[in-house]
Amino acid sequence: MPRSMFERYGGFLGVSRIVSAFYDRVLDSDLLAPYFETVDMRRLIDHQTKFMVQLFGGPATYSNEQLRQVHAHLAITPEAYGEMMALFRATLEEAAIDPADVAQLVADLAARRPHIVAGAA
Ligand code: HEM
Repeated sequence: MPRSMFERYGGFLGVSRIVSAFYDRVLDSDLLAPYFETVDMRRLIDHQTKFMVQLFGGPATYSNEQLRQVHAHLAITPEAYGEMMALFRATLEEAAIDPADVAQLVADLAARRPHIVAGAA
């Protein structure tokens, strides 16, 4: 069995570093920061790490239904979603993730779009 990205990129610690770097970028974005104004960021980063561990092929589960419920009231626009994806890609590139792995992670995340963007499905 080939090693999962989760194993290759440092397990929970590696993934949580990437998630922290990602939210630094998100909170620096004028378009995205307002969505997070009232959010407890430590709790969010905990949950988001769990989700990303799953995305990297590690042991965690987040259902699409959970994603839908969490984002339903946020009225997330296609532009905000696009900005978030661009920042995610930039974070992975900065973390020296292999380009083939970046492509897979971004594609897996893009498949969740209908559960995140308001009125997308
Ligand atoms: C594919 C893209 C995305 C994924 C996989 C994702 C995933 C998640 C996860 C796992 C959580 C934590 C859920 C929990 O507390 O159990 C969360 C919360 C949140 N997300 Fe996303 N998200 C995405 C895109 C976005 C976008 C584009 C925005 C805004 C522009 C956004 C705004 C938020 C906010 C504000 C919360 C906190 C909600 C709260 O605590 O009340 N997310 N997201």
